[in-house]
Amino acid sequence: MKTEAATTFAEVAASEERYQLATYRKMPLAAERGQGVWIYSSDGQKYLDLYGGHAVAGTGHSHRHVLAAIRQQSEKLPFYSNLVYSDARAGAAEKLISIAPKSLTKVFFCNSGTEANENAMRMARMTTGREKIITFSGGFHGRTADAISATFLGRYRELGKPNVPGHLQADFGDIESVRQLADESVAAIMLEPIQSMAGVRMAGTEFYRALHELCDERGIVLIYDEVQTGVGRTGEWFFCRKQSRGWRCAGRHHPGQSAR
Ligand SMILES: Cc1ncc(COP(=O)(O)O)c(C=O)c1O
Repeated sequence: MKTEAATTFAEVAASEERYQLATYRKMPLAAERGQGVWIYSSDGQKYLDLYGGHAVAGTGHSHRHVLAAIRQQSEKLPFYSNLVYSDARAGAAEKLISIAPKSLTKVFFCNSGTEANENAMRMARMTTGREKIITFSGGFHGRTADAISATFLGRYRELGKPNVPGHLQADFGDIESVRQLADESVAAIMLEPIQSMAGVRMAGTEFYRALHELCDERGIVLIYDEVQTGVGRTGEWFFCRKQSRGWRCAGRHHPGQSAR
């Protein structure tokens, strides 16, 4: 089927069904373009987008500043490997550090959320020399091997079998369940501060504070998976920044640094 001919919902749907693996059940809508909070379908219908493309389109669709930045960089140099220095990459890293909690001082760029979590767990294992990772009931961390093994939600972990060993499950919001598992074999505790796929679940403020203290006390790396809560979606640049008021924040605590 020619792309330019794929204008009606039926045509777009038939083309996607034919050439793509059926991994998601889709809504009966072919999104063709967007502007701000609106989505326009291939059939010319206009929809108020309360979904934000899986919470990715936080600035609204086709925001002129985003478009200008993409256009400007793609006209200069769309890609070059990290074997050379780049002003665009330098600027992006500096900007991220300027909005991150003060204890986070380095950026590692990734292609996806699951890759970020895989690398966070790997770095925690490397820096502590320990193997185990504690995550929480209801948490979702991605679909690649280690991240899906850290996911204790419905059937997801089952889909990733055989799972990566060394993943332990604690109860979200229950610090005692974490204390019982957090021995000297634990490299990291990872959590979605607001659980997403489990239905927008938060724990009490005390829970986050106690987690920070436990990690500091036992030399465990605390990893906040902010795929859903990061970059302004809770009204702060990062949830852990919001939560850090009054106590130290996510990441290894560096003595002498207070939270921003
Ligand atoms: C909390 C959370 N972590 C990790 C992921 C995985 O991110 P990605 O699909 O970009 O690999 C998701 C995806 O929805 C997520 O919601």
